Amino acid sequence: MRLKDTGLTAEELKALVNKYMIETYERFDFVADRAKGNYMYDENDTPYLDFYAGIAVNSVGNCNEKVVKAVQDQAATIMQTFNYPYTVPQALLAEKICTTIGMDKIFFQNTGTEANEAMIKMARKYGVEKYGPKRYKIVTAAKSFHGRTFGAMSATGQPDNACQVGFGDMTPGFSYAKFNDLEDFKAKVDDDTIAVMVEPIQGEGGVNPATPAFMQGLRKLCDEKHMLLLIDEVQTGWCRTGKIMAYMHYGIKPDIVSMAKAMGGGMPIGAICATEEVSKAFTMGSHGTTFGGHPVCCAASLAAITEMLDKDLAGKAAETGEYLMAGLRKLPHVKEVRGKGLMIGIEFTDLGSVDMKHECFHRHMLTTAIGSNIMRLIPPLTVTKEECDKAIEIIGESIDALSK
Ligand SMILES: Cc1ncc(COP(=O)(O)O)c(C=O)c1O
Repeated sequence: MRLKDTGLTAEELKALVNKYMIETYERFDFVADRAKGNYMYDENDTPYLDFYAGIAVNSVGNCNEKVVKAVQDQAATIMQTFNYPYTVPQALLAEKICTTIGMDKIFFQNTGTEANEAMIKMARKYGVEKYGPKRYKIVTAAKSFHGRTFGAMSATGQPDNACQVGFGDMTPGFSYAKFNDLEDFKAKVDDDTIAVMVEPIQGEGGVNPATPAFMQGLRKLCDEKHMLLLIDEVQTGWCRTGKIMAYMHYGIKPDIVSMAKAMGGGMPIGAICATEEVSKAFTMGSHGTTFGGHPVCCAASLAAITEMLDKDLAGKAAETGEYLMAGLRKLPHVKEVRGKGLMIGIEFTDLGSVDMKHECFHRHMLTTAIGSNIMRLIPPLTVTKEECDKAIEIIGESIDALSK
């Protein structure tokens, strides 16, 4: 649907949202009327350079032709079935994902938070059934973000964040250790701990990459203590960081990995992949979902993943990301540029990230702000070096405007 088809003005449309919707988002003052590739367009067809990609979702570009065709074809074939019958898109996608990332089994969900719920539930059930009723605790990282449903929200190590404040007690069974501090993780683990759970690069926590020593140390710790390593790749997964999955940077494998966002090419889908042994914790009736494994979303995901692999978007993200980071490091008022591939955080010395986001928006570039002084760049992985040059120019002009 386009605005011109409704007879409404942009202001009238915004008024409808303000009147009827429960708002928990700080919106751009912008109607996204259509999108293509690395750009979104307002109702006047003014292009906006997309450097947030629906928060690390549209990795193959918005409205990617192969994904659009897969969605249209599948929507006209079988729309929804629940998980009773076998369906072609599910079977092919399951095989594609497991063989590509070297995991044994997959369970489909709809979103990142749901994938993390499934990961937490599987780990807890594995622990309780294998070792006894008390062994279900999970240690996660301070400043982590795992989602907004109660399990994932309780796994999130941000007690002062609006995502946790005011909701009463969190789900029991979680404790938090300092990210990139192996000794603190060791100290927080006890006899009732069944797993540790981390993001390989903390996204919402400020774009903080895990060190190799930390990730490899966690793997060793889990092996020694008979615990599971749970890796949340909802944001980092599927080529964003320069590898197909970010854990591949560290030469380790998880026992369970969660994924969502980019895997659907813009359609809502999430999943967990697990080792054969751990996957057995989910037995008949112990877990389920009405929409998880939806044929249209699975068809979209198969098209998106095939596109990412065919076009080596992981390799492209690594190369373009280095180019972009090198350019950003030359800008004034920048304290640090960090990340991997095309998951990049810019920490400013003395500029506000929300102000920077607005300045970039006025120059027709879309980005996100984290906390008070970090701007995050997570463009489609199809972004070109010329578009990166443009982004660096816009960020540079925005810095100049704010530092006058
Ligand atoms: C690492 C991580 N895990 C989980 C989530 C939650 O995903 P969703 O918003 O799809 O529920 C996010 C969302 O930003 C995320 O970055």
